[in-house]
Amino acid sequence: MGYRMKAMISDLLYSREFRNSMAGALTRKLIRATASRMKYSVDFQVDMLAVERPHYAWCMLNAARLGKALGHDRISAIEFGVAGGNGLAYMCDFAEHVKAVTGVAVECYGFDTGAGMPEPEGAYDLPYWFAAKQYRMDQAALQARVPQAKLVIGDIRETIAGFLDAHKPAPIGVMFNDTDYHSSTRESFRIFDEVAEKPEHFLPRIFMYFDDVLGSELEMYGEHNGQLRAIAELNAGQEAIRIHRNQNLIHQDYLPYRHQIYYGHLFEHPDYNRYIGEGRQDAIEGLLKLRA
Ligand SMILES: C[S@@+](CC[C@H](N)C(=O)[O-])C[C@H]1O[C@@H](n2cnc3c(N)ncnc32)[C@H](O)[C@@H]1O
Repeated sequence: MGYRMKAMISDLLYSREFRNSMAGALTRKLIRATASRMKYSVDFQVDMLAVERPHYAWCMLNAARLGKALGHDRISAIEFGVAGGNGLAYMCDFAEHVKAVTGVAVECYGFDTGAGMPEPEGAYDLPYWFAAKQYRMDQAALQARVPQAKLVIGDIRETIAGFLDAHKPAPIGVMFNDTDYHSSTRESFRIFDEVAEKPEHFLPRIFMYFDDVLGSELEMYGEHNGQLRAIAELNAGQEAIRIHRNQNLIHQDYLPYRHQIYYGHLFEHPDYNRYIGEGRQDAIEGLLKLRA
């Protein structure tokens, strides 16, 4: 296929109108159905939702690229709330693709009690929907499936404080938070308590996914309970770290995860202000020059 034809197809596939149309949905189905036989690029498969967890993949790829731009050849991805381990297993599998595409290795960590949900702390934990001991893990089976994954077993209240010293993680660039409770999400944010002292364990901006911000009429998630409340409290409680919902995916209506991707800004991280616009900014500047 000629270059022009390829460019036209690519423009069409990536146009917002096509992506949000019935034809776009059918095309993605076709791509998913043929992905195991065709040699589609990893980015293309992620963009076309042709991977098992496109939201996990999207965060990992982008964090690896940010890490690379900042001179790192390893980053870390954390899943808070592992349950059976399908998410953590996916992270470990996809880390191989990230390494192949970007050259950046991804260390994968999973925090969980191992024994299912702890007791809810109060009303903000939605005890009308979540209960103690839900979502237990078979730790031995999970560790056998992904021996490279690092499981941090215990209540996050207790395990979060010593985590950086115990594991010395490569800079953390991804956090998937699926702990359901307001209290557990709040406790997971205590990982940021050590940013000032140990910035080498963090990228300055973190790709975050919150699972429990969208849900059913039974769950009734909102800014006053669950994970959204924990995010609001973190933001209100200090100035150095802010977590906000992304502004670049939310208009891409075909992405089912677009309202669940958040960004963590560690404003006082020594690398926060390091320029990463090379190449991309040059292209934009070229387009903005006055045409003759
Ligand atoms: C919905 S499940 C996670 C599902 C998993 N992310 C997946 O995609 O398959 C929620 C998990 O969070 C864990 N969890 C909740 N609060 C916790 C806490 N305070 N400490 C450790 N684990 C916690 C529970 O044990 C439970 O396994």
